[in-house]
Amino acid sequence: MTEQSPALDNLLTESRTFPPSEEFAGQANAKAELYATADADREQFWAGQAERLSWDTQWSQVLDWTNAPFAKWFVGGKLNVAYNCVDRHVESGHGDQVAIHWVGEPGDTRDITYAQLKDEVSKAANALSSLGVVAGDVVAIQLQMVPEAIFAMLACARIGALHSVVFGGFSPTALRARVDDAAAKVVITSDGQYRRGKAAPMKANVDEALQGAETVQKVIVVKRTGSDLEGETPWTEGRDLWWHELVDGQSAEHKPEAFDSEHPLFILYTSGTTGKPKGILHTSGGYLTQTAYTHNVVFDHKPGEDVYWCTADIGWITGHSYIVYGPLANRVTQVVYEGTPNTPHEGRHWEIIQKYKVSIYYTAPTLIRTFMKWGEDIPAKYDLSSLRVLGSVGEPINPEAWIWYREKIGANKTPVVDTWWQTETGAIMISPLPGVTAAKPGSAQRALPGISAKVVDDTGTEVPHGGGGYLVLDKPWPSMLRGVWGDAERFRDTYWSRFSEQGYYFAGDGAKYDGDGDIWLLGRVDDVMNVSGHRISTTEVESALVSHPTVAEAAVVGATDPTTGQGIVAFVILRGNAVDGGDGAVQELRNHVAKEIGPIAKPRQIMVVAELPKTRSGKIMRRLLRDVAENRQIGDVTTLADSSVMDLISSGLNSGK
Ligand code: WTA
Repeated sequence: MTEQSPALDNLLTESRTFPPSEEFAGQANAKAELYATADADREQFWAGQAERLSWDTQWSQVLDWTNAPFAKWFVGGKLNVAYNCVDRHVESGHGDQVAIHWVGEPGDTRDITYAQLKDEVSKAANALSSLGVVAGDVVAIQLQMVPEAIFAMLACARIGALHSVVFGGFSPTALRARVDDAAAKVVITSDGQYRRGKAAPMKANVDEALQGAETVQKVIVVKRTGSDLEGETPWTEGRDLWWHELVDGQSAEHKPEAFDSEHPLFILYTSGTTGKPKGILHTSGGYLTQTAYTHNVVFDHKPGEDVYWCTADIGWITGHSYIVYGPLANRVTQVVYEGTPNTPHEGRHWEIIQKYKVSIYYTAPTLIRTFMKWGEDIPAKYDLSSLRVLGSVGEPINPEAWIWYREKIGANKTPVVDTWWQTETGAIMISPLPGVTAAKPGSAQRALPGISAKVVDDTGTEVPHGGGGYLVLDKPWPSMLRGVWGDAERFRDTYWSRFSEQGYYFAGDGAKYDGDGDIWLLGRVDDVMNVSGHRISTTEVESALVSHPTVAEAAVVGATDPTTGQGIVAFVILRGNAVDGGDGAVQELRNHVAKEIGPIAKPRQIMVVAELPKTRSGKIMRRLLRDVAENRQIGDVTTLADSSVMDLISSGLNSGK
């Protein structure tokens, strides 16, 4: 079974519950009956949820699962996703409602109404069409949190092109791999980005990435840092275009074309258990239905009243589903913030909440723990009384952080929703409903109405209450991934082969039922690490390490970290078996990983060792390395080929190497 860390074990001793107040429950979007309604007829339930959207052509069938695991939802239906997120709100008389309160890191702001959003998206769509981008083409986007990122995504959706957003912190190598894998035709980026008060170049990295990239015809560059940036923005005549020169002069009229419900909407790359990231494919009708439904019921969102803020970056799925698609489909007014939470001071988020009267705030446990570290006196200086729902996503939230969040940010009254889902699931799957569920700190609790999840053992049999095992999704859902880009085999292998007999989707997470049958997530059971809510595979970091000329072999583990959830710890054998790489060498290796993958993958610690613990069949025993990394008593070593290896590693480390 899964190897559980002691920290996660503690989760299970938590027994406090926080039922919703009568007042909250009375006004909530979702009532308790929703579970029974959905159970009675799932397809009928989802058909009802799809009514949230405007369809050009009504679907003829809710779900076609005959070609499982390739699902088709709302078969025969046609819609335009961007129209649903923008135009229809203008048409229904809400053109003057602010869609986006954008806050730049240096303090500049922009309020964008739905009418303005419609113009911007239409102009960007016309611009892309003028470059020859057509439905089915792929546009890669590497941008920080500027409004143009959202305009660009919606412009793609509007013309049926797929976007592939690449997190701004990814290295040129990582960007290039994604551009090549999807054969992107256009890349959209910026000249530079503000990070912790400084302007850092972005376009230069993109240029490095695109050297010799044959599929890329045009690069569109948003001017963000301009003259703040030292040096000129590197430019390739004939290929590069400034966003403002290309887009601003376009017509604001653009007729949205209706696309099939299963028309691809985007690809988003995520780490798997091998070195090569997977391009997760999402399509239109089902994805938008489930993101809109969950945004409405999980956050209790009231259009025109709430001010919503999801702190994710659009480079991740949370930014796609809960900044762009779900919220905008629901006519949200939301805050989008460009910068880091401690620039220029550690109260930045609370200042923004106070200023815009944010009522729904959705963030990650790693940030909550960072806020705890900075101290409760910082949020205490601000008026946070507008908040009424708090959300968490990305990793298991420890009860201590959950309680702090509710007490110090939520005035001990706001519901906290711990939402479990994945890039692959597209939308929230397991979460309390804020007006219904008696919340338990640390538990995501129950699959949402319309969704089905189980905890099963090795054989795929559901475990009893109180038991632990693997989390599976046993019924298809509208926003499920439709495949891995260009690799149908990998799609089947990764998600559907583990419990193929039962036809369950294997999530890769360990989980446990408590005595009430509520679900507690226990972290990944595969070689995927979760660092500050970012998925990074151990193999990816290992390949980056061995690509350095001094490294002979590398093994990487995720070790429990009080702030980031897990920290990356690497064990390396140097070439010629040098035992002392010296501080300089270790630093160089850390930087090398950052260069290969991105700063998020930089190991917290690199230990130079003479040997790695391996089984007789040559498999590295990461479990033992995790024991070392977490300063625990080393576990069972009987399956090691050479049991003295662990002594060697431990003694080497004790001597400070
Ligand atoms: C983890 C992020 C526990 C989990 C939306 C999952 C969580 C992976 C939670 C997906 C949660 C996400 N409780 N674990 N509330 N939310 N995870 O694809 O291990 O970046 O498999 O999607 O994050 O990460 P991804």
